[in-house]
Amino acid sequence: MSRELVIPAARLRELAREFGTPLYVYDEATILERVRRLAGFDLVRYAQKANPNLALLALLRSVGVAVDAVSAGEIERALRAGYAPDEVAYTADLFDARALEFIARKPLRVNCGSVDMLPLLAKARPGAEVVLRINPGFGHGHGLRVTTGGESSKHGIWHVDAPNALNVAQQLGLAVVGLHVHIGSGSDQRNLALAAAAFENLAPLVRRTLKSLSAGGGIPIPYRDADPDFELGSYAQTWRDAARRASECVGRKLKLEVEPGRFLVAESGLLVTEVQGTKRNGGFDYALVDAGFHTLLRPAMYGAYHRIEALTSADRNLRPTVVAGPLCESGDVFTLTSDGAPDPRLLPALARGDLLAICDVGAYGMSMASRYNSQPLPAEVLVSGDNARLIRRRESLEDQLLHELDL
Ligand code: LLP
Repeated sequence: MSRELVIPAARLRELAREFGTPLYVYDEATILERVRRLAGFDLVRYAQKANPNLALLALLRSVGVAVDAVSAGEIERALRAGYAPDEVAYTADLFDARALEFIARKPLRVNCGSVDMLPLLAKARPGAEVVLRINPGFGHGHGLRVTTGGESSKHGIWHVDAPNALNVAQQLGLAVVGLHVHIGSGSDQRNLALAAAAFENLAPLVRRTLKSLSAGGGIPIPYRDADPDFELGSYAQTWRDAARRASECVGRKLKLEVEPGRFLVAESGLLVTEVQGTKRNGGFDYALVDAGFHTLLRPAMYGAYHRIEALTSADRNLRPTVVAGPLCESGDVFTLTSDGAPDPRLLPALARGDLLAICDVGAYGMSMASRYNSQPLPAEVLVSGDNARLIRRRESLEDQLLHELDL
């Protein structure tokens, strides 16, 4: 076994027995440790799209982490988890009617990624404070689909348009109190540093009203043992230096925010899945499990790598195995290359009933799960020391049919 599991195998086996599989299990201590690592920033804001379970939101709120929301649904979740409206930021490139209704009624912070949101905001909440999300003209993420800067991304106000956006905001009577940048998810050290430099130059344009700068999210985590270490200390220092220079320039201390999703929760999460059968097709050995891309989409969608560990089989002869799910779709495989070809992993001989843990799935696992093939959404459990608590029950078939009209 390469790295240790954040929750020991014996405990995962017990939880699988108690709550069934597929099962998402999160380790509270890991999440709290990641929060502590971000102490170099003035404010940590959790990008809840990574995992919006109410119990996780309440946990992060209890340790002073603010929250980001990208939809009316995420705003509602944050409020239900106990967040005060002014601890919630709505970050988007558009307003839909439901989000605009929240904005009109509650003092949420609004982070606009398009200039045409400004008149809508001014109408919904005259004189409001606003944050502008700037697209700095370049971006970087773990893949093109999660790169959120540059002209091939729809996100943010194009950097060249920033002075115009500031004028428009001023004319509408809005106060631009913050600048925000997010260049991509699962980015790297160099690009995140470049963003700080590019962004710092904008502060003088908002000299009169600016109060905060946000570095966005994007901090990577080591999915593979060989992934380079991310130097969190030097990342925070780069941004602190940029914020200090910007503060000197505007003549007041600017608050420095960071907005991670993946970094806070990814490594806390394990997906426990049970082998339902095995087969050999040509040169490939397959283990077919009860989780699929309806449970964890990242491998099928991005060719993302997730470590897989056997929890039951004691066989020491490792063999190349393709781990695939139950869906009626050949791309329903967890072990793929980034091009989508089968990429077998070395695993012990597996048989029906064996359990596997798919690692580092706390971010963009459950939040991207679906009911494809009428599969029920899985259960989620939060482990806090000796205590394990069900934080979402497994769906029943009745739950799935609830919104369909009677025949
Ligand atoms: N802030 C903004 C404005 C964002 O758009 C995102 C992610 C974040 C923060 C948090 O990024 P993080 O720290 O988690 O990298 N489904 C993809 C990730 C999509 C991220 C979208 N935006 C995946 O599974 O890798």
